[in-house]
Amino acid sequence: MVSLQLTPPKPFLPKTLNHSKHDNKPSTTVRSSLQWNRKPQLSGDTPRVVVITSGKGGVGKTTTTANVGLSLARLGFSVVAVDADVGLRNLDLLLGLENRVNYTAVEVLNGDCRLDQALVRDKRWPHLELLCISKPRSKLPLGFGAKALTWLVDALKSRSDGRPPPDFVIIDCPAGIDAGFVTAIAPANEAVLVTTPDITSLRDADRVTGLLECDGIRDIKMVVNRVRTDMIKGEDMMSVLDVQEMLGLALLGVIPEDAEVIRSTNRGYPLVLNKPPTLAGLAFEQAAWRLVENDSMKAVAVEEMEPKRWGWFSFFGG
Ligand SMILES: Nc1ncnc2c1ncn2[C@@H]1O[C@H](COP(=O)(O)OP(=O)(O)O)[C@@H](O)[C@H]1O
Ligand SMILES: [Mg+2]
Repeated sequence: MVSLQLTPPKPFLPKTLNHSKHDNKPSTTVRSSLQWNRKPQLSGDTPRVVVITSGKGGVGKTTTTANVGLSLARLGFSVVAVDADVGLRNLDLLLGLENRVNYTAVEVLNGDCRLDQALVRDKRWPHLELLCISKPRSKLPLGFGAKALTWLVDALKSRSDGRPPPDFVIIDCPAGIDAGFVTAIAPANEAVLVTTPDITSLRDADRVTGLLECDGIRDIKMVVNRVRTDMIKGEDMMSVLDVQEMLGLALLGVIPEDAEVIRSTNRGYPLVLNKPPTLAGLAFEQAAWRLVENDSMKAVAVEEMEPKRWGWFSFFGG
């Protein structure tokens, strides 16, 4: 594996590190994102409603929601993360908030509590709030569908508790393309498609892209997760470049395989909070940065990667 190198030596900054999708000149976004003293420029109207989806299960949607959501909150944006994966709810676990969920969206809709009572504030970054649809292991309640979730997201825009509407609503989508998926994508204006570089995940991602487009969601970016340069080099894994060619979507981030992801999941402590930061944590942080600015990165061929010189930059660029 490549070695972790936290401060990029300037002369080694690859030219292809972060091309904007709008031009071919190297942009300074990534360099800036590694200097934590700048806030990214929020692009688009708020609240931006983003669904994190994939088709295939277990590819990292919930991990992406937790880490991107927390990164956005840490950058100073207000975020509501909606766990729309009803049957397999686990965003609360990843955020370490499982003991604090007293009310869910179902109780709000039944009139048993107010919306603000169902919003669970993160312990570390109160700018981040969690909204779960229902109790764990319960089925999607009858009558809870696309209209209900859209109503909830609209209610977040005009909150009765005096807090301003969030900058981002991030919806963690269930796997598959059935009712839960249709519900989760309904209020979204944009989508982040998470895929791993394997053929089953890619096939599902391609199918989901078509469905999102049919639903009117044209702003779709992808995160390629669990990437291993050693396997790509050995031609045992598809490269990010291949993935991008197959899906033809803007690339929001490339997340390496990292054992710390599993450790942080078990601790309920999102990876992006790790000190010192890990490869995957930095990659999620950069993906959040790009999401804010509506920017994208460009994949490079594995032959262009020089891990000894570039270290972890091989993953992020260019
Ligand atoms: N980059 C990564 N490196 C290592 N393990 C990962 C990575 N991303 C996700 N995982 C692990 O994969 C499993 C599934 O991730 P999860 O986010 O729950 O997927 P999904 O929500 O798509 O079902 C979890 O055990 C998680 O810790
Ligand atoms: Mg999940």
